Amino acid sequence: MKIGRNDPCWCGSHKKYKSCHLAFDEKLENMKNEGILVPPHEIIKTPEQVEGIREAGKLNTAVLDLVAEHIIEGMNTEEINVLVHDYTIKHGGIPAPLHYKGFPKSVCTSINDEVCHGIPDKNRVLKNGDIVNVDVTTILNGYYADASRMFCIGEVSSEAKKLVDVTKECLDAGLAAVKAWGYLGDVGYAVNTLAQKNGYSVVEEIGGHGVGLKFHEEPYVCHIGKKNTGMLLVPGMVFTIEPMINAGKREVYQDAQNGWTIYTQDGTLSAQWEYTVAITENGIEVLTK
Ligand code: MF3
Ligand code: CO
Ligand code: CO
Repeated sequence: MKIGRNDPCWCGSHKKYKSCHLAFDEKLENMKNEGILVPPHEIIKTPEQVEGIREAGKLNTAVLDLVAEHIIEGMNTEEINVLVHDYTIKHGGIPAPLHYKGFPKSVCTSINDEVCHGIPDKNRVLKNGDIVNVDVTTILNGYYADASRMFCIGEVSSEAKKLVDVTKECLDAGLAAVKAWGYLGDVGYAVNTLAQKNGYSVVEEIGGHGVGLKFHEEPYVCHIGKKNTGMLLVPGMVFTIEPMINAGKREVYQDAQNGWTIYTQDGTLSAQWEYTVAITENGIEVLTK
């Protein structure tokens, strides 16, 4: 199993191991011996793989832009599903949610107190004042990109608007905390600190995830964290940040009927924004919008 110094590097660069990831692996081995949680090779992407995820991200962004153009009061969420499904297929992609662990539709649409995993439905009509999360995941040439945005329908209350805006700021704060040789806990710390400052709570049991070669990979990205804890962040890692922020208490429950939709326990509003981010040698690259 051990790679020789002159063997090709495991990362797919076609360089010799000694002039590629050997020093990197030695550094990780030392850190591991100090008790640090280091990422496994399987979740470190090659530049070619990042390029594939980047292309999937472009299509994913185009799908969300299409939703942004068409979403309107009086529309039902099945119409959003059809828009997402047809556009994705037409452009050579596959909507990842469809049949994923039995999910019945091509996109998640989560309204008001629905935290995530809302199922599009022709009987669910968007009303004036609703806040809606549309979560799109696209597979292109085998690569996955995952992002979601909030949409405000008609005139929304100032409380709802503030929740939507602060949740986006929480995502941006999480992104700003990502850096090579930092820790995943830095991300959760940044998100939770900003949410709490605004009197909101952060959903703990559902979070971000590694993404790219599969829909959900290691690591689990918790949006509550402590600085300098959790998995070490290194170049080549690709994962989502997708904070779910509740106006009220953090507790949630799952729909017993459909087995998917998550709601706030106290019935208060919840918002979420999600991007896919890659760690590069020089910084980070956000692969979706
Ligand atoms: N897109 C969601 C995420 O951000 C996952 C949805 S799973 C589905 O991780 F099956 F509901 F689509
Ligand atoms: Co998503
Ligand atoms: Co995700």
